[in-house]
Amino acid sequence: MTISKLSASEQEAITDGVLAASLKSQQEKGPALRQVHPKSHGLVWGEFIVENNIPTALKFGVFAAPQTYPIWVRFSNAGEAEKRGKFVSDKEPNARGLAIKLMNVEGEKALDDEEKTQDFLLINHPVFFVRDVQGYVDIAKVASGQADAELTQAMQPSFAILQETGNKKVSNPLLIQYWSTTPYKLGSQAIKFSVKPQQQEEVSDSLPDSENYLHEAIVKHLTDEGKDAFFDFLIQVYVDEEKTPVENPMQEWKEEDSPFLKVATIRIPSQKFDFDERKRLDEGLSFNPWHTLSEHEPIGSVNLARKKIYQELAKYRREEIEKRLREPQPFAFVQDEPR
Ligand code: HEM
Repeated sequence: MTISKLSASEQEAITDGVLAASLKSQQEKGPALRQVHPKSHGLVWGEFIVENNIPTALKFGVFAAPQTYPIWVRFSNAGEAEKRGKFVSDKEPNARGLAIKLMNVEGEKALDDEEKTQDFLLINHPVFFVRDVQGYVDIAKVASGQADAELTQAMQPSFAILQETGNKKVSNPLLIQYWSTTPYKLGSQAIKFSVKPQQQEEVSDSLPDSENYLHEAIVKHLTDEGKDAFFDFLIQVYVDEEKTPVENPMQEWKEEDSPFLKVATIRIPSQKFDFDERKRLDEGLSFNPWHTLSEHEPIGSVNLARKKIYQELAKYRREEIEKRLREPQPFAFVQDEPR
């Protein structure tokens, strides 16, 4: 497998730059919220049921033995807040996120801030919009008008992916497919994973005229209509650098090159989740691809950058949540009014 074109010191320096910019944006748009994916459509509980007939070659980490893990699942919009105190409406183009946290997971972990969790993070498109962490910096440069014509031109494929992802019509986050886009270890192999609903979405041409219609769709499904939701958790195994590259999450691993294999079922039972205590838990939790057993470690430049960024931003967010209560500050300091 080829490795990123970035040297280790470049990767580190660029990551620090992204971290600094992200912290600044979080400070401005909502210190106690996530910098990206701040808007939740719901945090719900469920089960992650590992299949009992997984091929031996794939029996690693949480897939080593048939077992049922309790999970928290968070549905989100990917984009930053519009401004302080104001989320972007669900009617605007956006990627949709899915974050899953397995609990009671035994084994050696990559980070030590949580002991028994295994997180899986996905979005509703098979590819990510940048190739490596440098791309994350470059696209921001172009978007803020600070790039020359050459870089602007070079980043067009990234903008095309963003547009394609954002323009997908989604009527219910429980009924769409999600992809990891970036690769992970499975023992000594590389894999990508995907979460696919067992029930297909029926998308009509007109979506509901409500800013929060995605949250409302989950409430209707799980609470008002009392229905469960089921997803298949699927994996794809690395074939070769041409068909299934590790260092380019902009390239899809096609199903015809590497078919999806089902390794688990996600069951989200009918439930109530639309209340304040749950929202506080949602705002305080940290989902991080590096909350992982070493058998499932994230790989590639984009994933490597996420290690420091997610940890530091979640730490900052939690400190802000605590700080605003520990020693109350006057409004002139808090400035929590929507701007
Ligand atoms: C260099 C690339 C990336 C950067 C800098 C980045 C940054 C972030 C940050 C700062 C957060 C909030 C963390 C927190 O405060 O707890 C976040 C959340 C999230 N990211 Fe990424 N991300 C990147 C790539 C990806 C990729 C490839 C995916 C998956 C396809 C992804 C999916 C998510 C999801 C689903 C969440 C929400 C987690 C939650 O619900 O708490 N991100 N990302």
